Amino acid sequence: MSTNIFPDRDTFLERPAKEALLKQKGLVIWFTGLSASGKSTLAIALERKLYAEGILTQVLDGDKIRNGLNNKLGFSAEDRNENIRRIAEVGKLFSDCGVVAISAFISPTNAIRRMARDIIGEENFFEIYVSTSLEVCEQRDPKGLYKKAREGVIKNFTGIDAPYEASDHASLVIDTSVYPVEEASELIFGKIMPMIKKV
Ligand code: ADX
Repeated sequence: MSTNIFPDRDTFLERPAKEALLKQKGLVIWFTGLSASGKSTLAIALERKLYAEGILTQVLDGDKIRNGLNNKLGFSAEDRNENIRRIAEVGKLFSDCGVVAISAFISPTNAIRRMARDIIGEENFFEIYVSTSLEVCEQRDPKGLYKKAREGVIKNFTGIDAPYEASDHASLVIDTSVYPVEEASELIFGKIMPMIKKV
């Protein structure tokens, strides 16, 4: 009689089985940059490109996550930390399932991004720094938030009265005021496809 109380059929399916099913490798693509730097625009363009190649993705971005999963979190350093911790855990769930998660959050410090990388695992984490300057982001100001931050109506706004540290660990750096979206997403696509199609 077997003494194994967890026979094979009762254990969780492993990641390789799911990756084989999807015929792709799981990965987390982590965009970091200021508000209005172009993170979400790039995430959307990249997702469409990957979809056209038959790659299953999930975009995680501020509007979706901060209105749902993280709707009780604000913008203190502590809340941003918790925001990013949860997003990293969700990204890990997706990549463990063979899905390509595309995350687009300010994630303002090297420490916060290191935490995300530690949760997800170095080999599953591809960081892209969207380096569009504060001046350009402030000119774009699509939601009028920079203006409010300058007027003091919004406090702790990243780049104005809360810090943003340039990435020290990015695999790619893209300034969307120099690179058009199509060109930038093509560049990213070329780098990540070999990582996703290793199966
Ligand atoms: S993070 O710092 O915790 O990574 P996240 O990417 O989730 O930030 O959210 C940033 C978005 O929230 C901005 O693009 C902007 O629309 C909005 N926002 C509202 N208040 C702030 C603030 N104080 N600082 C930065 N972004 C803010």
